[in-house]
Amino acid sequence: MIARGAPIVILTGAGISAESGLQTFRGEGGLWEGHRVEEVATPEAFARNPELVQRFYNMRRAKLGDPAVQPNPAHKALALLEAEWPGSVTLVTQNIDNLHERAGHRAVIHMHGSLDRIRCLACYSENTWLVDVEPESACPSCTTSGRLRPAIVWFGEMPHALDAIAEALSEAALFVAIGTSGNVYPAAGFVAAARADGARTLELNLEPSAVRTAFHEARHGPAGDVVPAWVEELLAR
Ligand code: OAD
Repeated sequence: MIARGAPIVILTGAGISAESGLQTFRGEGGLWEGHRVEEVATPEAFARNPELVQRFYNMRRAKLGDPAVQPNPAHKALALLEAEWPGSVTLVTQNIDNLHERAGHRAVIHMHGSLDRIRCLACYSENTWLVDVEPESACPSCTTSGRLRPAIVWFGEMPHALDAIAEALSEAALFVAIGTSGNVYPAAGFVAAARADGARTLELNLEPSAVRTAFHEARHGPAGDVVPAWVEELLAR
């Protein structure tokens, strides 16, 4: 498909962590079935009802510590690709979990932020945070109480690292989207951007996404099967 060592950009979404026991957002049993986005994932929701929002993210953060939640073969295959591919592999994830890192992936761009980090609204520092946030929790940097918020990009906020992502997309020989429904921009537009700059494009998802027709090629099935098979093929070249 591409020359050995050519630059690759990979975008992952909630579907890559589904087989690890983390819920996706859309569809049956998804997080957005039990919660309205406007109630838990916007700056306005946090201003209106910080406790409800913290509870939602506390629950999801606690789930990361569940011994049953572990990186699956898809996360591991991408870490192997990063280690063994002789060219650059840029991994951009919309996921706020830490399963790519726990699979051994070294460089991960968390464009929607990270569940295991916290931001202080008093001093704007960010720190690692693995326990529940209580209403009076103090900032590890400035010790101010009650001003912590999840280090998550909410709807209406700017995703992280867009300049670096745009540069990687413009140089990519191959763009691959894994486990994402293609409903949320700007990530859903990455395929078109990469393709316009000459990349081959591949979708790996359980089912055709909302932007399936923008890709040259698609392989549909569980990430734990299709991702390791694709990585093995690429590394065997
Ligand atoms: P979605 O829940 O929208 O989509 C998950 C996709 O993964 C769907 O297309 C599923 O078919 C697919 N899928 C499910 N199980 C799978 C499996 N085992 N293997 C492969 N694919 C599977 O999640 P995202 O596209 O990641 O943003 O959602 C994008 C953003 O919307 C999230 O980052 C979040 C959300 O609202 C914010 O909260 C800002």
